[in-house]
Amino acid sequence: MAEFIPYGRQWIDEADIKAVESVLRSGYLTQGPRIEGFENSIKSAVGAKHCVVVSNATQALHIAVSALEIGEGSEGITTPITFVASANCLITNGLVPVFADIDAQTYNISPHEIEKGITPRTRVIIPVDFAGQAVDIDAIKEIAERHKLFIIEDAAHAIGSKYADGKAVGCCHKSDMTIFSFHPVKTITSGEGGAITTNNDVLYKRLLKLRTIGITKDEQELSKNPGPWYYEVQMLGGNNRMTDIQAALGSSQMSKLDSFKKRRREIVSMYNDAFSDKPNITVPYEKNGVDSCFHLYVLQLDFDKIGKSRKQVMEELRQKGIGTQVHYIPVNSQPYYVGKYGEYRPKEYPVTESYYRNCLSIPLFPMMSDEDVEYVEKTIISAIT
Ligand SMILES: Cc1ncc(COP(=O)(O)O)c(C=O)c1O
Repeated sequence: MAEFIPYGRQWIDEADIKAVESVLRSGYLTQGPRIEGFENSIKSAVGAKHCVVVSNATQALHIAVSALEIGEGSEGITTPITFVASANCLITNGLVPVFADIDAQTYNISPHEIEKGITPRTRVIIPVDFAGQAVDIDAIKEIAERHKLFIIEDAAHAIGSKYADGKAVGCCHKSDMTIFSFHPVKTITSGEGGAITTNNDVLYKRLLKLRTIGITKDEQELSKNPGPWYYEVQMLGGNNRMTDIQAALGSSQMSKLDSFKKRRREIVSMYNDAFSDKPNITVPYEKNGVDSCFHLYVLQLDFDKIGKSRKQVMEELRQKGIGTQVHYIPVNSQPYYVGKYGEYRPKEYPVTESYYRNCLSIPLFPMMSDEDVEYVEKTIISAIT
């Protein structure tokens, strides 16, 4: 057996290394020209008016909620099948998270369930483009307009993906803001990193302040201007900045977004061919017209019928050099959430529960060779049949 195959990993080439090296040899390590360069490459790839890059997507979500200036005690609706950051950003801004069950085919938040979770206190919806597949943004926008709600789209998995109408995720034609993650397992990486896109000038100005402690030096924004040293703290913010080192890596990676997507989709198609007709396996469903950049390849495995537990299958695969993962444990079942908001009631989330019981993410990253893919297919089929 060759090297261990993790469920996801970055692909760094010589051009990336040279891009980072050139920053180290330049005068700026942070807040220099690479930041705007990276922002411009994201804006032009997704077709948004503004982009603000930040230290990671967890902080991108936090400041996106802060920028809405929603009153404490308001509610925000998100999905249980996500990384906890999609819900934590509500709590860190004094809001209450409300969870809506997922759709049985796409595993994305169900618009019908969003509607059921709306109360007079609801102010924002945070849908997640799970595994790279764009959410049903038209249906979510229709609900948001009817109830006067904001939409922050968590597209941490979905740079390079398209909605059914052919528009790029991140263009913000229906969302107020969209966030991306550049963690190494994501489609492109900046080491750690995140971005927010928006077409709204007011939100953009707030995001710029919130990235840097709530400070502005913009003459148009200052209440007075006694001299060149002067700045004002106009909002409460932390240090959420990205460095130029990260931005240079991110820009270099952006130039490979199309080729990374192509390879991801090739691997998905090989997997679909190998698994579709096998018993006790359901392959991911890609909704008609949606063009996913597939961050994850998530199988549904009927462990009861297979006669092995998920733990056994994961351990067996690990011993054979294959990494797998569970995306995700329902956020509202986490001890912190139960302690704060009360018991998690699985019966209220039947689709989430059945999804969670059977999900397993298997390796998917562009650096995988055809031999790696075939080895994963063969090993999984023998582990579960
Ligand atoms: C859906 C989702 N949102 C947000 C995040 C947070 O991203 P980051 O690791 O860049 O903080 C992640 C990270 O895995 C994620 O999967």
